[in-house]
Amino acid sequence: MSKRFYVTTAIDYVNGEPHLGHAYEKVITDVMARAHQSLGEEVFYLTGLDEHGQKVQQAAESAGLPPQTYCDGLAETWRDLTTKLGLSNNDFVRTSSERHKKAVSAILNRLNDEGHFYKDSYQGYYSTKEETFLTEKDKGPDGQFDAMYGEVTELIEENYYFKLGKHQQWLIDYIESNPSFVYPDYRRNEVLGFLKNNTLEDLCITRPKSRLEWGIPLPFDPDFVTYVWFDALVNYASIPAALGDPALGKLRASSDETSNELSLWPADVHVIGKDILKFHAVYWPIMLKAMDLPLPKQICVHGWWQKDGEKMSKSTGNVVDPIGVIDEWGLDAFRFYLVRELGIGPDGNWTDQGFEARYSAELANGLGNLVNRSLSMLNRYRDGKLPKPSRELADEVEASVARVKEQLSKHELQAALQSIWALIARANQYIDQTAPFKLAKQPEQAARLDEILYTMVETTRILAILLWPTLPTTADKIFDQLNLSASPDRLADAAWGGLAEGHQVGKPVPLFPRRDKK
Ligand code: ME8
Ligand code: MG
Repeated sequence: MSKRFYVTTAIDYVNGEPHLGHAYEKVITDVMARAHQSLGEEVFYLTGLDEHGQKVQQAAESAGLPPQTYCDGLAETWRDLTTKLGLSNNDFVRTSSERHKKAVSAILNRLNDEGHFYKDSYQGYYSTKEETFLTEKDKGPDGQFDAMYGEVTELIEENYYFKLGKHQQWLIDYIESNPSFVYPDYRRNEVLGFLKNNTLEDLCITRPKSRLEWGIPLPFDPDFVTYVWFDALVNYASIPAALGDPALGKLRASSDETSNELSLWPADVHVIGKDILKFHAVYWPIMLKAMDLPLPKQICVHGWWQKDGEKMSKSTGNVVDPIGVIDEWGLDAFRFYLVRELGIGPDGNWTDQGFEARYSAELANGLGNLVNRSLSMLNRYRDGKLPKPSRELADEVEASVARVKEQLSKHELQAALQSIWALIARANQYIDQTAPFKLAKQPEQAARLDEILYTMVETTRILAILLWPTLPTTADKIFDQLNLSASPDRLADAAWGGLAEGHQVGKPVPLFPRRDKK
């Protein structure tokens, strides 16, 4: 059994409806997952929901529902989103599920037995919005906590603590000697800066049940529930453990039957947003170290979307509704804009004009037109039958394929689309320059026309394969129109000459219908 390429997203709080930021993260992770699948690897893609904590408990209270009922209801909406986004996820974790809770209890028991915890009284601040403890040091120069923390309350209470301090130097050394552990580089520097300039405070890993009931009970003290972040981070390992990952036996009780043996751990990539870097690049590695488990290979940190240059906010109505955009423009148009507009790292800005401009120039006029022209001309001039193979653009196309493969394997998703669109532009230019529509009127040019038609249609086939990780539905449609029964999900098939002489293609159907300006 070989280890699969294992990629995860952050798990979303179920206290509201999914928004553009959630959709973005799930889509870029899906493109990575599909890219690795297309490169010939076995892949496991995990996403899901973070259901415990004060924030969710409060949301359930205001909805007048018991937390589990509240979560069960919203979980349906979030699960539907994975379908709506065309995600290839292999599982969907809910932290209120038994399989997850078992693993969290196992970790807590083990770390407690090994002396990693102690009980102490805490005096400080708590942000429910970010489910995080704050100290005086987190206040700004004006003596206030940043607005991102929402309402911050002061509290004094007994809790259990996880000793982090003794791992601080180890973590600094680890990050320094593993430069690709945090991507991109400036996020790595941010973590190192934090670790070098602060003394790590021990992590409070519980909440008294008197204050918060909606959490995983602490297995060794019934008066407490587990702090939601300690619970949530474990999801990346709890699901593989439940599925029988041999590397994670420590997270199972010896009595647990595991049938379906899957080798997943360590994760290859955790995809997260910039706001939760510390949890993933400081707390999670230390939790794993304390458990003597291997660390994930990479924490990949994306930026945040704004709309029209401002923070998205429900109260002002400044939001992008992923479902609405997909219903109006189609799934692949939405996926395309997200990946093409914003590389992994910086913040992005959604504008409806930008979206419509890319739809019209790159999808309708660029890709759509190329596929349409290629198939129409082959149908018109050769009754849809492929002439004998020609290699006129073969070298250029194969050079593009090599570039796209390299970019996809390095998770340069935006750059991969730029390369693909350079090839689309080249193919459209080739058609304009060779003018097959003129040659068709000159019977003595029949052999030349054959060469051009083969080149156009074979380029289209290869483009479908290159597009599959990002635009899976479109890639499938192109293969359907080409009358190919295989799936465009193997980059190995992007070698020139795959279309055989005499193959009969289907009729073109517009992929991205042109829209009238509203
Ligand atoms: O933080 N643009 O959940 P969450 C891009 N449950 N990404 C955004 C975004 C935006 N405008 N807004 C949010 C949590 N995100 C925890 C995670 S993981 C063990 C637990 C991203 O619902 C955000 O950065 O607040 C995070 O990666 C994800 O959406 C979920 O955010
Ligand atoms: Mg958040």
